[in-house]
Formats: sequence, C-alpha cells, structure tokens
Amino acid sequence: MKTKYLQFNDNDLNEAGRLIRQGELVAFPTETVYGLGANALDVSAVKSTYVAKGRPSDNPLIVHVYDKKQIYDIARTVNVYAETIINELMPASLTVVLPKKAVIDDCITAGLDTVAIRMPESAEARAFLQAAAVPVTAPSANLSGRPSPTTWRRVSDDLDGKIAAILCGQPCKVGIESTVLDLSGEQPLILRPGVVTPDQIESVLKIPVKVVTNPKDKVNSPGVRYKHYAPKVPLVLDTSGDVKKLSDYYDGLSEQGFKPVLLVEDTSVYGNRSVCCIGRTDVEVAQNLFENLRVLENKYDYIIASFSSKTQFADSILNRLIRSAAQHII
Ligand code: TXA
Ligand code: MG
Repeated sequence: MKTKYLQFNDNDLNEAGRLIRQGELVAFPTETVYGLGANALDVSAVKSTYVAKGRPSDNPLIVHVYDKKQIYDIARTVNVYAETIINELMPASLTVVLPKKAVIDDCITAGLDTVAIRMPESAEARAFLQAAAVPVTAPSANLSGRPSPTTWRRVSDDLDGKIAAILCGQPCKVGIESTVLDLSGEQPLILRPGVVTPDQIESVLKIPVKVVTNPKDKVNSPGVRYKHYAPKVPLVLDTSGDVKKLSDYYDGLSEQGFKPVLLVEDTSVYGNRSVCCIGRTDVEVAQNLFENLRVLENKYDYIIASFSSKTQFADSILNRLIRSAAQHII
C-alpha cells in the first residue's frame, strides 16, 4: 500500500475524513502523541488497526471524539463524577473509562464492558476528528511495543506502506500519552498517569482518586501488561543522579565493548563520555523522551538514563522510563 502524506489544509483534511469513513487507517497528531485513527463504527477498520500495529487483540483502544455530545452516544451511563470531568476538564490529555453502549463493538474494548473515551485538546486533532465526523479509535501510531511517535516522521518510520495516510502536523507538545481515568466503578482510579495529575482530578471531583499503575496490581488497564516504549537497545534507569555511579556504570559497559550513552539532565559533568540531555525541565523531558530514545537507539548500543521525580507530572514520566527500562533499575 502506498501511504499518502496529507497536510493541514481543507482539501487534505477532507480527504483524511473521507478515508476514515471508507474504513482506512489515518495517523494524525494529538497534543500527547500521534494516533492511528480508524472509524470506531466500522468493525473491520478497527480490526485492521491491530494488524497494522502488531498489537495484541486483548489490549483495548481509546475512542476519540471532538464534541462532548458524542460521549453520550457511546457511554451507557455518565455518572456525576464523569459529568464533572467532562464539564470541567475536557478537552484535555485525559481519557475516561465508562460503561459502554452496544454501538461500541467488543473488538474496540477487548471484550470489556467499558469504553475508553478521549477528547483531545490540540486544534489539529480536533480538526481531523471533525472532518472524520464519526468517533475514531486511535492507539498510539507506533508498532506495538515501540516508543510512541511524537512527530509524523516517526509514524512514517513504523507504519509507512501499512496505512492509507499520515496527516502531517506539528510535533506533539506533551510527548507522553493521556492520563487514563476509570470512572466506571465506585472509586475513581488512575490506570495510566499522564499530564493531568491526580491532584487536578481530585480538585474537581472533591474525592480521593487512587493511582493503580503497578503492573502487579489487579490489571484494570490491559495495556499495562505488555512490553512498552522499548528502544531497540537495552536501557537502564537510575533515579539517584549520582554522577560517580553513572560514570562507573558507563565505564564498565565501555570496557565490555559496548558503546553506551548517558541520557541525563546535566551533560557537563561526564568528561568525554557520550551524553545526551534528557531535558532541562519536566515539560521538556516529556516532550523529548520518546524522540530521544528513537535517536539514541540508532547511534549507541546501551542507554543509561537518569531521572528522578518530585512532582506528580514527573511521576508520569518516570512511569514511562521504568517501562522502557523493562524494570531494569540500577
Ligand atoms: O494520549 C493517548 O491516549 C494516545 C493518543 C493517540 O490519544 N493514545 C494512546 O492509546 O495512548 P494506546 O492504545 O497506546 O493506549 C491506550 C491505553 C491502554 O493502556 C489500554 O489498555 C487502555 O488505554 N484502555 C483502553 N480501553 C480501556 C478500557 N475499557 N478499560 C481500561 N483501560 C483501557
Ligand atoms: Mg501505545
């Protein structure tokens, strides 16, 4: 298949919308990461998403909407907490899990009785969703297991020739995926941390929310089971920022014949070792994280990342790094 590269003009947006309604896959930008869109009302289109990504079919998809009214078309019940979140926080880098209506097929939800719904904030995502005019399923537009793409070129690296079109927009401003908030039960649960923090959610809901992101916990969000965000080369994670420890670890790998790189905040203190700046602020770290992994995996054969968290937002970055490191923390 020859993938079309579409731009943000009326003509191409209309074409992107038409392709979605015809059952094709179109990748598009959101403020978090690029998504791989399909018509949520077309079962065979949704199923082809799993094939293009190589995604296990028991990992459900998020349905994207541009208008709050669409949420009521796909959610069976919208309780008072969900209503508050919809009214006060959306659109946002936030996904809510609610009981599903029958119009949402089991292949979207992997057989669960709930559906994940997101209304993205970025103007580009909303323009695309409006052009599609149907609810759109969209996982991150990467091959399953790989770091999520934050530019259209990275989508192309993974999916060129496998999907009908890529809508080429801006690099993603947030850089990590949406917060997933389960509002289908008695107690609000954060299944995946993101830029919308537990404090922000608690301040509008006025009740405590529980963060359940440890893969050993009961698996509410099937996606957390799988290998994720993995660069092609091994990545180890340090949370101490101890320059001597990191330097020694680097030197040990060098002596074994590896070509390592340090992914750290302050690159000035490691002499002539290979270094890359992870970012000067948490916002920058999140924005560049997946892109850094995709650049470094092609130049080095070992990534030593160092990051520590003092805020809830930084916790969500740390969550991605721990999973990129496949729990290998030094
Ligand atoms: O920022 C984002 O959320 C991006 C952009 C494209 O919107 N999308 C994204 O999709 O990250 P994906 O498929 O990579 O991650 C979806 C996550 C998975 O962890 C999945 O298990 C969870 O949402 N999920 C989907 N439906 C669910 C449901 N009914 N209950 C619990 N978790 C669900
Ligand atoms: Mg993903």
